[in-house]
Amino acid sequence: MTTAVETTGRTVKLEIQRQDNANGSTRWEKFEVPYRPGMNVISALMFIQQNPVTAEGQKTSPVTWDMNCLEEVCGACSMVINGRPRQSCSTLIDQLEQPIRLEPMRTFPVVRDLQVDRSRMFNALKKVKAWVPIDGSYDLGEGPRLPERKRQWAYELSKCMTCGVCMEACPNVSEKSSFIGPAPLSQVRLFNTHPTGAMNKDERLEAIMGDGGLANCGNSQNCVAACPKGIPLTTSIASLNRSTTVQMFRNFFGSDHMVD
Ligand code: SF4
Ligand code: FES
Repeated sequence: MTTAVETTGRTVKLEIQRQDNANGSTRWEKFEVPYRPGMNVISALMFIQQNPVTAEGQKTSPVTWDMNCLEEVCGACSMVINGRPRQSCSTLIDQLEQPIRLEPMRTFPVVRDLQVDRSRMFNALKKVKAWVPIDGSYDLGEGPRLPERKRQWAYELSKCMTCGVCMEACPNVSEKSSFIGPAPLSQVRLFNTHPTGAMNKDERLEAIMGDGGLANCGNSQNCVAACPKGIPLTTSIASLNRSTTVQMFRNFFGSDHMVD
C-alpha cells in the first residue's frame, strides 16, 4: 500500500505541550507526521496517537485530548493552536504556520496533555439555571412561538457548544476570579427570552448581579472575536446590563417580580 509520505513526500511539524497529570510539570515535544491534503489538527494527533514517537525518534506516551463530533458542534476539542484558542477538528493544517504549536486551554485545569476540565463553565450554567424547566410527565403539546425577529437572534445564541474558547480568550476568567464568563452570561439572555424560560428570569438575573457576575466583565471584547460560532456575546452582555439595571430598581421599589 502506498503511504501518504510516499505520495506527497511532505510532512507536518508539530510541537505539543505535554503534561502527564493534573499536577505534573510541563514539557514540549516535537513530532513530524505525514502530510495528507485536507488534514486537520485532529488527524495529525491521531497519527501521533498510533505512532507515539518524537521527531528525534524517541518513544513517548500517546498524546491525550478530547473530541467527539468532529464537526465543530460538541465543543470538546478546544485547544490553543499557534497561540489561538480554537477547535482542533475544524482547524486545517494548510491554514497554519509550522511548526504547529498545540497547548491546552489554561483557563481550565489540565487533566492531561491537551485535555482540560471544563466543569467551571458547566457549574456556571447551573448557577444561572441555563435551561427551561418543564414538567415532562405529560404531553405538553407544541411549545410557545417566538416572534420571528426574536427567534432569529435567539437561534444564534443557541449555537453555543460550551467549547470554552471565549472563556480562554477573556482576561477576566481565571482560577483567581469567580467571573462566570461570557458563554454562561449569554445563555442567561437566551433562556430569559424563551416565553417559558422567562418564568425564572428574575432568578437568573439575580445570579449574575452578585459575585462573579456581570460586574466582573472588563469589556475587553476578546470573547466575541474568539467565538467560533460568531455568537454576539458583547451584545448579550450589553442587553443583560440593561435587564439587571431594571431588576435592581424592581428590587429597590419592591415591585412584583412577575411583572415584566
Ligand atoms: S459562546 Fe462561543 S466561544 Fe463561548 S463557549 Fe459558546 S460557542 Fe464557545
Ligand atoms: S470534536 Fe466536536 S467540536 Fe471538535
